[in-house]
Amino acid sequence: MATILITGATDGIGLALARLYDTADHQLILVGRRPFAQLNDPIFTPTTYCQADLAQSDAAETVAHWLQEAGIQTLDLLIHNAGTGYYGSLAEQPLDQIDALLTVNLHSPISLTHRLFPWLRQAKGQVVFISSVATAVPAPEYAVYGASKMALEGFARSLRVEWRGQVTVQTIRPGATHTGMHQKIGLTQAQMNWEKFPSAEKVAHQISNAIISKRPSVTLGFGNKLLRFGGRNGRFLLDPLLQKRAPQLTSQPQRQNEQPTCLITGAADGIGRALALRYAQAGYRIVGLDVDGEKARETAAQIEADGGSASFILGDLSRRDELDAILSQLAVHAPFNCVIHNAGISAVGHFEAIPLARQTTVLHLNLHAPLWLTTELFRQNWLTPDASFVFLSSLSYFASYPGAAVYAASKDGLANYARSLRAAWAGGHCLTVFPGPVRTAHARRYSPDNSREDGRMPPETLAAAIFRAEQAGKTRLIPGAQNKLMGGAGHLFPRLLEWGMKKMILEKLEG
Ligand SMILES: NC(=O)c1ccc[n+]([C@@H]2O[C@H](COP(=O)([O-])OP(=O)(O)OC[C@H]3O[C@@H](n4cnc5c(N)ncnc54)[C@H](OP(=O)(O)O)[C@@H]3O)[C@@H](O)[C@H]2O)c1
Repeated sequence: MATILITGATDGIGLALARLYDTADHQLILVGRRPFAQLNDPIFTPTTYCQADLAQSDAAETVAHWLQEAGIQTLDLLIHNAGTGYYGSLAEQPLDQIDALLTVNLHSPISLTHRLFPWLRQAKGQVVFISSVATAVPAPEYAVYGASKMALEGFARSLRVEWRGQVTVQTIRPGATHTGMHQKIGLTQAQMNWEKFPSAEKVAHQISNAIISKRPSVTLGFGNKLLRFGGRNGRFLLDPLLQKRAPQLTSQPQRQNEQPTCLITGAADGIGRALALRYAQAGYRIVGLDVDGEKARETAAQIEADGGSASFILGDLSRRDELDAILSQLAVHAPFNCVIHNAGISAVGHFEAIPLARQTTVLHLNLHAPLWLTTELFRQNWLTPDASFVFLSSLSYFASYPGAAVYAASKDGLANYARSLRAAWAGGHCLTVFPGPVRTAHARRYSPDNSREDGRMPPETLAAAIFRAEQAGKTRLIPGAQNKLMGGAGHLFPRLLEWGMKKMILEKLEG
C-alpha cells in the first residue's frame, strides 16, 4: 500500500487528485486549511484529513506531528499542490499579500519537504511540485505568482540533483484549469473565461500519468508545451508583444533630484560596492542600503574621496519589521533613476542539513525584499518616469545549484519577476544579470573550493559590464565568455550542466 500526502486537497486539482487516488491500494493524507466540520465529501475522515494552514510558519510541524500521531512512518508520494495567487498591478499588491502568497506557494513546500525528508527517504519516495506553465512567459498581472512558481522550479531542479538515488523529485506544470482558484484571487469571468479551461479531473489524470513517468519535469498538454517552448526560446519576439498588451506601470514623482540618483541594496561590500563606485564615477549620487555600518562608512568615504556623493541607510532588508524605517529614510532621497537589487546571501550544504530558519532568511533577503521595495517604489512614485531596474540573479538560473537549492530558488524567482516587471514598465527598463563566480567575500564564504579564486571575475569588471548593459537598455546580461558558454549549454543541455554542477559543487561540499 502506498502512502500519499496531497496538500490543498479540499478543492480544485487537489480534490480531484485525492478522489483519483482514493483506492484500496493507497493510504491518503489530505492536507487543507478548512476545519474538518466544514468538509462534506466522504473522502475526508479523521484518519485521512490533516488540518494545517500552510500560510502559517508552523504548518510543517503540524503535519509532521499529525503523521507521528497517526503512526505513519513512510511517505511514498508527497504532492505539493496547494497554491494561491494575486491578480492585478504589481504596484498595488499589499506587502502582506506578497508574503502570504510566497509563504503558501514557496515556503510551505520547502519547509514541508525539509521536515518530511525522513519519511520520504524511508520509502525511497517521490516528491512532486505543482508549478504552472505561467513560469514560461512574462506575467505582469500575476508577477509574484509567476516568481513563486519559478522559484519552486529552481528549488526542485537543484534538489533533484542532491537527492538522486534517495528520493525522486519532479516538477509538473499544468496550464490554465477550470477550478475555483481564479475566482478566489478576485478575477471575474469577464477578465478570464475559466469555463473554457480543462476540468480539474482531466488535469488530475494528466498529473497522475506524469507522476508514473517520473520524468524530472513535465508540462501538461500540447498547447502548454508549445507555450513553454515559445516562452523559453522566443522571448525576443514574445516579450515585446506582451509588453504592448500589458497595462503599464507609471511613476510621477513630486520632485526632481539635481543629480541622477542610484539606489543599490547591499552596496557596502562586494559587487554592490563595486557598482556604487562605478555609478558614482559616472555622476550618480549613490543611496546605499546595507546592514554593515562599518563597511558602509568605508564605501561612502571612498566615493566621497573620489569626488562623488553617497548616503547609506542601515537596516536588515530580510526583516519586514525594519522595512518601514528603511522606507521613511528612502523618501528623503527619492526619486531614483536607477535601482539595483543586489543584496543577497546563501546557505550551502545538503538541503535537509541546513537549518530551515537560515533558508527562510535567504528567501526573505534575496526574493521578498526586492519585491517589497519594487512595489513600494511604484506605489510611492519614487521612481523617475524612465527609471532602470537591475536585478542580480545568478548563473544558477541556467546551471542549477545543488548544494544551495534555496539560493537557486530565490534567484530563479527573481529572474522571473524581473521579466514580468519588464513587460509592465515600458517607460524605463529592466536588466537581469546572471553572474557566475565573482571574486568577493560572498563567493569565498559559500564556495567549496577557493583554491582557484583568481579565476573568478573581479567585482569591478562585473560592475563595469552591468553599467554598460544598463545604460544601453539591455534586458539580459551573462557577463564573461565562459559564463555565456555555460548559460547557453544550460539552456540546451540542462541535464549535462546539472551533472557538472554536482561534480563541481555538491561533491566538493561533501568532500
Ligand atoms: N487553476 C489553474 O488554472 C492552475 C494552473 C496552473 C497551476 N495551478 C496550480 O495548481 C494548484 C492547485 O490549484 P487549483 O486550481 O486547484 O486551486 P484551488 O481550486 O483554489 O485549490 C487550491 C487548494 O489549495 C488550498 N490552499 C490555499 N491556501 C492554503 C493554505 N494557506 N493552507 C492550506 N491549503 C491552502 C485551497 O484550500 P481552500 O479550499 O480552503 O481554498 C485548495 O484546497 C496550485 O498550486 C496552482 O497554483 C493552477
